[in-house]
Amino acid sequence: MSGLSPLPAAIGDRQPDPVSTEAVRRLDARAGGDALRRAVELALRAPSVQNSQPWRWRIHLGSVELHADDSRHRSAGDPDRRDLVISCGAALHHLRVALAGTGWGCRVTRLPDPDDPAHLATVQVVAGLPDRAAALLQPMIDRRRTDRRRFGTRPVRRALLDTLVTCAAAEGAGLRPFTCSVALARLEAALTEAAIRPRHVIGAPDELTMWPDPGSTPFDDPPPGHRPVGGRPIDGAPPGKDPGAGSGCLLVLTTPADAVADRLTAGEAASAVLLTATGLGLASTLLSQALARAPHRTPDGPPAQSQVVVRVGWPADGASRLPATPRRLLESVLLPG
Ligand SMILES: Cc1cc2nc3c(=O)[nH]c(=O)nc-3n(C[C@H](O)[C@H](O)[C@H](O)COP(=O)(O)O)c2cc1C
Repeated sequence: MSGLSPLPAAIGDRQPDPVSTEAVRRLDARAGGDALRRAVELALRAPSVQNSQPWRWRIHLGSVELHADDSRHRSAGDPDRRDLVISCGAALHHLRVALAGTGWGCRVTRLPDPDDPAHLATVQVVAGLPDRAAALLQPMIDRRRTDRRRFGTRPVRRALLDTLVTCAAAEGAGLRPFTCSVALARLEAALTEAAIRPRHVIGAPDELTMWPDPGSTPFDDPPPGHRPVGGRPIDGAPPGKDPGAGSGCLLVLTTPADAVADRLTAGEAASAVLLTATGLGLASTLLSQALARAPHRTPDGPPAQSQVVVRVGWPADGASRLPATPRRLLESVLLPG
């Protein structure tokens, strides 16, 4: 953290006020200049479906707009744009974390323009203290990786899963650990099925070669040792048994409803869960394949909209640190101010 002292909020204010232009300039200078740009740059490290990075940003003095980039929508694998919006939600949470880590409070207005559905959020720098919990997650942004490898054998304690459940709840989402073996088997079967199916979807192969941005690989080639969870068995594992599962846990992230705002919430919660898991030393992956086609209801418990699956576990003994996947350059995702 930068150690910036927060601007005092006006006494009696219920909502912190956006800070004045002059105050933003002062704060920015103390943060070394370009603080909002650097925060957006960190937000670009957010996970996104097939590393599509379907976002655009507009930076003003004291605020940042997040827009969906529909040109990067992978329509065959994500027909209803669920994964696109979840990815943008993850980037929004990353931005909140980056700002908090800089010592800045912020206020988020989600879907601010009813006439512009692509405008997903505006984040304003506000007076007052930054979110301390979010600030603590900032170093995790650079450490987090999607880890599709086999996990170690050490089980993840229930208390740690509860921590993840709590941090999803703080974002307004549910997180349901799959402990029931029947439900787990059903989910694993759905993941396996879904990992095979995209090959048969018309249009999918072309999309895998889209967007040859210089300096980035939109659909990253998995590094050696990686494979999509639920894909073909490796190492001679018996068919139907996912060798990547190890002792890891699958948790389903849910929201009360399924509007765009709920999907944005799901992305923010997913980011919070992944960064928290990273802070706990856990390896993690997001999985959407199964949920893209399975009925969007959890198999037990109260009705809730399933959004994405989170897989967490302890890295296997001796597992190396994974390289970071590439990202588009900041300049190529900025909208004119
Ligand atoms: C909404 C969403 C869905 C995803 N679904 C899958 C998936 O089904 N399988 C998978 O292996 N990775 C999945 N990912 C992870 C992305 O592939 C990963 O974030 C991207 O390749 C960037 O790599 P990184 O997370 O290591 O930075 C998903 C990510 C998001 C945000």
